[in-house]
Amino acid sequence: MMESFEKAAEIILASEFTLALTGAGISVESGIPDFRSAEGLWSKFDPAEYATIQAFRADPEKVWEMLREMDKVVSRAKPNMAHRGMSELEQMGCLHCIITQNIDNLHQAGGSKDVIEYHGNASTLSCLWCGKKYLATDKRDENLPRCECDKILKPDVIFFGEAIPEEAMNRSFQLASSAKALLVVGTSAVVSPVNSIPSIAKRNGAKIIEINIEKTNLTNSVTDIFFQGNAGDIIPQLVTAAKQKNDN
Ligand code: APR
Repeated sequence: MMESFEKAAEIILASEFTLALTGAGISVESGIPDFRSAEGLWSKFDPAEYATIQAFRADPEKVWEMLREMDKVVSRAKPNMAHRGMSELEQMGCLHCIITQNIDNLHQAGGSKDVIEYHGNASTLSCLWCGKKYLATDKRDENLPRCECDKILKPDVIFFGEAIPEEAMNRSFQLASSAKALLVVGTSAVVSPVNSIPSIAKRNGAKIIEINIEKTNLTNSVTDIFFQGNAGDIIPQLVTAAKQKNDN
């Protein structure tokens, strides 16, 4: 494994443009369950019933049962060693932009500056009728947060059936086609269109470094270096290897 840390460090130090794609797995060590692991959120709430925009419009009170449960863990979560390590790589000039599927704001809280939020961010809520926006913190005491127009508010996260923010989509694909290295951290890579980022990067010559506690459908197809383990353990070792190589 040490050999591959050295090799991975070489790749990101040599890369003029390094991108990262992160998923829920990077926040598990901050106490936020992922979606598809055995104890994941989807083992408790069927996404077809709780995570589509149709479900929200039909029965927002029911969907808020899941949203409240998510909000409880997200509001208490702090960046972990993986988030902080990625921010350190950015400061070292070894990581240029993170595309995250997460809505927990932990990359930004961990110090990362350039973060593309593919599925929005849960720190603000919007009224689908009058468009008024609120901070989630200002509505945390309301079990069913309502707008002043009395409609039930929706978090500014992308539900299944909603369009990915255009700017996030366009910029991610553009950066993926010019990246020389891509770190893929804590994602099952099953949700499209974001799961095409690794193959776009690969097709354009990028080296793919994957970090996950288990293999994914990327591992034996596009991944060049696979680190099996917790992101909170692996990323700090990658930072150390990059620093050592930089100092030599
Ligand atoms: N370190 C690294 N990887 C981890 C860790 C960890 N500590 N814990 C879990 N993982 C891995 C799991 O093995 C899995 O491959 O993280 C991945 C999480 O996959 P998902 O739960 O499918 O989450 P994600 O890939 O982010 O899902 C994408 O699906 O439901 C939608 O909108 C939701 O943004 C989400 C999207």
